[in-house]
Amino acid sequence: MYPTLKNDRFIRALLKQPVDTTPVWMMRQAGRYLPEYRASRATAGDFLSLCKNNDFACEVTLQPLERYDLDAAILFSDILTIPDAMGLGLYFETGEGPKFKHTIRTKDDVEALPVTNESDLDYVMGAVSTIRHALNGRVPLIGFSGSPWTLATYMVEGGSSKDFRHIKAMMFQSPEVLHQLLDKLARSVIDYLNGQIKAGAQAVQIFDTWGGVLSGPMYQQFSLLYMKQILDGLIREHEGQKIPVILFTKNGGQWLENMAATGPDALGLDWTTDMAEARARVGDKVALQGNIDPCVLYAGQDVIEREVENVLAGFGHGSGHVFNLGHGIHQFVDPERPKYLIDAVHKLGEKYHMTQYDDLDALNGLDNE
Ligand code: CP3
Repeated sequence: MYPTLKNDRFIRALLKQPVDTTPVWMMRQAGRYLPEYRASRATAGDFLSLCKNNDFACEVTLQPLERYDLDAAILFSDILTIPDAMGLGLYFETGEGPKFKHTIRTKDDVEALPVTNESDLDYVMGAVSTIRHALNGRVPLIGFSGSPWTLATYMVEGGSSKDFRHIKAMMFQSPEVLHQLLDKLARSVIDYLNGQIKAGAQAVQIFDTWGGVLSGPMYQQFSLLYMKQILDGLIREHEGQKIPVILFTKNGGQWLENMAATGPDALGLDWTTDMAEARARVGDKVALQGNIDPCVLYAGQDVIEREVENVLAGFGHGSGHVFNLGHGIHQFVDPERPKYLIDAVHKLGEKYHMTQYDDLDALNGLDNE
């Protein structure tokens, strides 16, 4: 058994329960912009050694929490652990991002791929439980996975891509092969996330970083359908606690209604979607997470505070908002700046959570008729 949560704002906001102020965390909050992260990575040898050693993974997970008043920790790992466990041979080349020794291009390649289960990713489950113990109830721990579509892009392309030429060729030429790959990934992701939940993850996020490169109909068939399969297979309550699920499709702003209909607790928004509009469209079904432009962190304190207020005001009064960047923090950000953002969210957020007002619609000016 783990100790009870001292700060549960993040979980409460995802479940749209009242909070004292808006909770905040940052995607990729543990990473290269922090000098202490770079030092840990140098000691470990490389990025994958950080992920594969529980003590290192725990150390870097906690680093941003030492600096900033964050309301959640996120497991330090990568979305590409599943394809790595399938035998594709993940490696990183400096400046070039992730690469695989083996790519998946043909029906035979897909047929030969195993569906993984949590025991193939023991080191991740070990990291979750080590981190959860070390957090000692301070803030909740987020587990995560890539979406099947996003994982497949890396597996088929062999690494990062600008045009997604190989996977889109497969999608149009041999859709049945791609469907078989996505189904294997969805089944692997279900087991992976449920493993993280059993090991101690208190919320999970599905990163669909590349869903937004698809047309609407293709997004539905090749990305959203498999995220729905995952949502239907996830443990949603563990040891008496609800486990909220966040779905994040970068550039998915056009499809919020479709995404909300798959049954997550929250949708992650990037900065190209207007927060107020998103709330008007799907705020009755899901909580919203986001969505300040990460480049705001290149500006000074006054600009950061102004932009934070804009996002908070966009969401408006009441619970159901988790503040975040619209995507991961950049590696060149000055580590002093996130402090301005996080403190501004807590300070400026308070006025949106005055619980004596229960007529939120009136407060938000939505009843103008
Ligand atoms: O949020 C966190 O603090 C948790 C850590 C986290 C990492 N990767 C650590 C990491 C998370 C949630 C991820 C997810 C991830 N990984 C995604 C989806 C999220 C997103 O940003 O859209 C994707 C697409 C990947 C694949 C991947 N891994 C990429 C594209 C890269 C960057 C490569 C580069 O050189 O720019 C990685 C490596 C990676 N993952 C780093 C970190 C801190 C940097 C590795 C290093 O230390 O050099």
